[in-house]
Amino acid sequence: MDGITGLRDRYLAAIAAAADEQALEDTRVAALGKKGEVSLLMRGLGKMTPEERQTAGPALNALKDDLNQAIAMARAALADAALNARLATEWTDVTLPARATPQGTIHPVSQVMDEISAIFADLGFSVAEGPQIENDWHNFDALNIPGHHPARAEMDTFYMSRREGSNQPPHVLRTHTSPVQIRHMQEHGAPCRIIAPGRVYRADYDQTHTPMFHQIEGLAIDRDITMANLKWVLEEFFSAFFGTGVKTRFRASHFPFTEPSAEVDIQCEWVDGQVRVGEGSDWLEVLGSGMVHPKVLTAAGVDPAEWQGFAFGMGIDRMAMLKYGIPDLRAFFDSDLRWLRHYGFAALDVPTIQGGINR
Ligand code: DAH
Repeated sequence: MDGITGLRDRYLAAIAAAADEQALEDTRVAALGKKGEVSLLMRGLGKMTPEERQTAGPALNALKDDLNQAIAMARAALADAALNARLATEWTDVTLPARATPQGTIHPVSQVMDEISAIFADLGFSVAEGPQIENDWHNFDALNIPGHHPARAEMDTFYMSRREGSNQPPHVLRTHTSPVQIRHMQEHGAPCRIIAPGRVYRADYDQTHTPMFHQIEGLAIDRDITMANLKWVLEEFFSAFFGTGVKTRFRASHFPFTEPSAEVDIQCEWVDGQVRVGEGSDWLEVLGSGMVHPKVLTAAGVDPAEWQGFAFGMGIDRMAMLKYGIPDLRAFFDSDLRWLRHYGFAALDVPTIQGGINR
């Protein structure tokens, strides 16, 4: 019995001293493994007399249970210590602010295009598109701008290089969105109501001109459309776009593709060098328009004896500058992040008639 007490003390001390899982396991094997000291003693029970066995058996079993329990507790303590050590190095500061996800903004030109499209969609216009590299005929001839017409020179056209051996005039970077009128009527005929927003190009560069800019074309063809319809549509549009009643002024003008033609001004006022649309007694020119010229209808395959309608062309960038008070057009296309963050719009805040057009 003394031997058993000695064994218990020795192994409990070894278990308590085990510095890691491996040391603990070695101790367990030494005591309770197949050839462990305690196991060997238990195997010796068979050779004892029944009387000896009666005291030694329970004592050995108790020893075995005590050691097993001590080992389990020591193992749990080691695991706790290991976890605590890990937690001490791998902690997370939940009070840190979340990492910001870089988020782009909607460019004012895209925003304004969406705003304009939403308003015209509400007025029954759908969106049409055409190529930015346009042929001479669609960009000029079909719009009643013949080869000798001064408008060709005035437009500062970018010409593509002519294909080798071709006797066709070179393609151009479209100088306006008006050729989309022709393409749309050629494909869909009359009646129609479309707007055509997009990029256009002219060799020009100063505070209010960039070689690439944006226009939006409008076209409404039916049997009895008049200038009165044009005036109403534009006034509805400007009032919705600027979020306030806006008066228009029609001035007689000349475009080869419309007859009669009018330039349209909107009511405004200048306060401290800033323009305010929809107030005051000044006027600001914003677009060209008129009744589509019979020659243009004919070129596009629409019979002018049966159909008539209005067209207009407006600068989108100009609209964005006016509405959102952006002074320099050139900055629109500099891709300066500070500018984009300042003038950009929230990506998911899409303008709609229901949700609102004005930000
Ligand atoms: N295409 C003209 C330009 O770029 C603008 C324009 C004027 C378009 C009158 C039209 C229009 O449709 O009827 O300056």
